[in-house]
Amino acid sequence: MSAGQRPGHFPQPAHVAIIMDGNGRWAQMRGLPRQEGHRRGLEALRATVRNAGDLGVRILTLYSFSTENWRRPATEVSFLLGLLKRFVEKDLGELHAAGVRVRIIGGRDDLSPDLRRLVEHAETLTRDNTAMTLVVAFNYGARDEIVRATRRLAADAAAGRIEPAAIDEAMLGSRLDTADLPDPELVIRTSGETRISNFLLWQAAYAEFVFLPVLWPDFDRAAFEEALAEYGRRERRFGGVSEGVDRSVGAA
Ligand code: FPP
Repeated sequence: MSAGQRPGHFPQPAHVAIIMDGNGRWAQMRGLPRQEGHRRGLEALRATVRNAGDLGVRILTLYSFSTENWRRPATEVSFLLGLLKRFVEKDLGELHAAGVRVRIIGGRDDLSPDLRRLVEHAETLTRDNTAMTLVVAFNYGARDEIVRATRRLAADAAAGRIEPAAIDEAMLGSRLDTADLPDPELVIRTSGETRISNFLLWQAAYAEFVFLPVLWPDFDRAAFEEALAEYGRRERRFGGVSEGVDRSVGAA
C-alpha cells in the first residue's frame, strides 16, 4: 500500500471506467433490431461524456468493442465499426472544443487503415487538451493488452536493454495501452451482468465495482449519480485494514 492508497472513503473518483452492456436486450425488448440498440447506445455514450464532465470525472474510459466482439455476426461488427467511425468524425470537433483529450486503447493492427488514421488524428488533435480525458476501448481485451506489453518487455530483455530480474509492476504498467493514465477507482457495468469480461484486468486491481440493472441505452445522469454515490459509500482498503482498527497481531 503506497502513501496515496490509505484506507478510507473517497467522495469522488477521478477515473471512471464503464462496461456499456445491454444494447441488444434494450432493442429486443422493444421488438427492434440490435442495431437500433447500438444506435441508442451511442446516444447514451454522448450524454455520458457530457455528464462525466459536469460530475467532475476527469477520466472516463468506455468499453465499446472487445477483442471477443469480432465473433458477432459480420453485419453487427461492421455496424459497430461504422459507429466508431461516425462518432470520431461527427463528435471530434465538439469534444476538442470542450477541451476533451481523446485516447483509444486496444490493438490497432486489426483496424482498417482509414479507421486507424482517424483514431490517430483524434489523438493527435486533442493531445494537449486538459479539461477531461475520454478513453475509448476499441478492439480491446485486457489479456491481449498484457500479452502485447509482455512482448515489448521480452524484446527489451532480448536486446539487452533491461534485465529480466529487474522487471517489476511499473515496467509492465508502462508498456500497457494505458501507460500514462492513472488506474480507475470505479468500474461500472450496466445491464445487471456481474462480470469483468476481459476489461482492464491489470488496472482495476483495486477498483470498486458497481453493477447497475439499467440497460446501457437507459443509462442517464441519475444512474451515473447513483453509481458515484455508491462509490462514495464504499470503504477502500487496498489490502490493508480500516483506519482505527487495532493493527497489533492477535488483537480481538
Ligand atoms: C453491449 O451491448 C454493447 C456493445 C458490445 C457495444 C457498445 C457500443 C455502444 C455503446 C455504441 C457506441 C459504439 C461505439 C463503437 C462508439 P450488447 O450488444 O452486448 O447487449 P446485449 O448483452 O443485451 O446483447
